[in-house]
Amino acid sequence: MSSYENYTQTSVVYDHTRVPVGLEIITAALSSGSTKPDRQILLDAGCGTGIYTFALVDQVHRVEAIDLNRSMLLVARSKMRSAAKHDRIGFTQGSISQLPFETQSVDGVMMNQVLHHLPDQAEDGWPLHHQVLKECARVLRPGGVLIINSCTHEQLEKGFWFYELIPNARTAVMRKIIPEKELDALMCGVGLTLNDRLVELDGVLQGESYFDAEAVLDYAWRKGDSIWTLASDQELQTALTQVTELAAKNQLQSFMQRYDADRPALGQTSFSVAIKN
Ligand SMILES: C[S@@+](CC[C@H](N)C(=O)[O-])C[C@H]1O[C@@H](n2cnc3c(N)ncnc32)[C@H](O)[C@@H]1O
Repeated sequence: MSSYENYTQTSVVYDHTRVPVGLEIITAALSSGSTKPDRQILLDAGCGTGIYTFALVDQVHRVEAIDLNRSMLLVARSKMRSAAKHDRIGFTQGSISQLPFETQSVDGVMMNQVLHHLPDQAEDGWPLHHQVLKECARVLRPGGVLIINSCTHEQLEKGFWFYELIPNARTAVMRKIIPEKELDALMCGVGLTLNDRLVELDGVLQGESYFDAEAVLDYAWRKGDSIWTLASDQELQTALTQVTELAAKNQLQSFMQRYDADRPALGQTSFSVAIKN
């Protein structure tokens, strides 16, 4: 379960804005594995509504999609009704910290925007991250690929224009993101070797709707990014008032452009690619 977002509520509107960023990076990473992609079993760990599973299932032999939240899984399942896809996807409700799969049974694991939802303790050395990575390494065959899609601290600071409206929430989410060096050390400790770290500069997690500045006022749009749940009621109200006032003064577009200026060079999310030893 996410430590803060209510994914049962979010499941209803998540797909209104979210798009799978970095598909080419994931495809290339899977190609670097020791098994040919079309013979691979790919685990989508924390699959949510299945936007990545749906986009990638035709490239691999089979996808195992797992998520803790039943409502997110139901959306994923209903999306994959077509027989061709359905036969090649398994849906499991369960936790990525205790994967219900055999040791060395998959060729690839992707975890897209999931790790920061673990209720973890940075000061204790990120024990839940360690447990999840250990499980990923366990189920991967030697030569298999782990792909972790996660924002860096710098991307959180400069890659999302609307985070400027909710600085306390941004600070809160940054505390939930494991620094890259610590992630690398944990991966190394469970038998994974970091191969690459890549960014898709063009991709934004909420697709074209990211540039619809007034959509901040829309609850469904805000549900496309769990950071809003970390804003206190007061911070949220202040942000909504600020957006309304900027729009009334015709200054909302320039506000967005100013705080979006660094994103094209930084991207919003990074992909760490590791190989099982
Ligand atoms: C931001 S969503 C990402 C969903 C999907 N991977 C995507 O990129 O669209 C985070 C997902 O992680 C799931 N999740 C959080 N903690 C989990 C855990 N311990 N085990 C399995 N799923 C988990 C949530 O239920 C939610 O569906």
